[in-house]
Amino acid sequence: MKVHLKSNVYWVGKIDWELQSFHGDDYSINHGSSQNAYLIQEEKTILVDTVWTPNTTEFLDNLKKEIDLKDLDAIIVQHGEVDHSGSLPALMAERPDLPIYCTANGVKSLTGQFHHPEWDYRVVKTGDTLDVGNGKSLVFVEMPMLHWPDSMASYLTQDNILFSNDAFGQHFAVGELFNDKADQCLLMEEAIKYYANILTPFAPIAKRKLQEVISMDLTIDIIAPSHGVIWRDNPLQIVEKYVEWSDAYQEDQITIVYDTMWDGTKKLAHRLALEIAELSPDTVVKTYNVALTDKNDIITEVFKSRAIAVGSPTVGNDILSSVAGWLYFLKELKMKNKQAAVFGCYGWSGECTKVLREKLTEAGFSVVEPEARVNWVPTEDQLSEMKAIAQALV
Ligand code: FEO
Repeated sequence: MKVHLKSNVYWVGKIDWELQSFHGDDYSINHGSSQNAYLIQEEKTILVDTVWTPNTTEFLDNLKKEIDLKDLDAIIVQHGEVDHSGSLPALMAERPDLPIYCTANGVKSLTGQFHHPEWDYRVVKTGDTLDVGNGKSLVFVEMPMLHWPDSMASYLTQDNILFSNDAFGQHFAVGELFNDKADQCLLMEEAIKYYANILTPFAPIAKRKLQEVISMDLTIDIIAPSHGVIWRDNPLQIVEKYVEWSDAYQEDQITIVYDTMWDGTKKLAHRLALEIAELSPDTVVKTYNVALTDKNDIITEVFKSRAIAVGSPTVGNDILSSVAGWLYFLKELKMKNKQAAVFGCYGWSGECTKVLREKLTEAGFSVVEPEARVNWVPTEDQLSEMKAIAQALV
């Protein structure tokens, strides 16, 4: 199956309705995903990226229905991660002479993963071009850390298509492929989830790169990422979102994240939500038990928040492993410009709030002074003390 984008450009990827997770099990996929590869059939026939390794046979069989592999002039490998390069070894087995256009870091990641230093690598850097015939060319733009050091984007002149690879993608399956055919609410939820959980650590780099690409003043009719929808209806809308998201993004939202053993800490969490809602009715307040909720969805809510509160009871002089594991992931994401508060119950030693405070500070949050550290089960008086935390966060 190939799907027409514009002129002589086609999608030849894989819509993966059954995919449940990504990066091992580190990213939940709730609405399918896709690995988008593209075929340019001008005077030269160029493949842009491939698909994930398990889909290789289907991918190559489909490609062979469209072209004779002998007619391929080059492959552009925009990123070495195997969701895009996984079918490369099988393709190269059939066309070992095929030129591979990639960045210098692309050579490192591809040889490191596939161990074929003899492949015909053509190293490109920002501004380099590849003539595809009929007066058109591909212009390459290095996109280091969006998502790996090897990442790059490619811009097809005249057709004004930006093949952006991971940037501007989503793990979201849409059968009709284009953004105007997608459920718009789900699309933006999946786009922000993808940004929050995968690209947030690289926000300063993303911000600089976006400015660089914007300053190139390219006419962009289509943004064709390597996951999810192809942006053809107002494609710059997702660029505008990335500009917002890469600049210490926050909405008027406070998210409460906790786990509990015998419901004491749960009582504190829910009382805090009520106090915030009373003090600031316009603020969106969301409360999640971290042990029961998809960790990536909570991260998305934290990304949207201006403040969070994290609660755990004390256990073994420390905090619950569910909260500790989630905080480890949170730290990895390097979120900026957010406040936090801590709370928890204890029976005897009571280290929970101290540990939570340390972990959140390490994760880059500004932790407010008021906290709730309650011996045994909170009384009504102790619950009413959650108001002080609410006031500090609001
Ligand atoms: Fe979609 Fe970084 O791979």
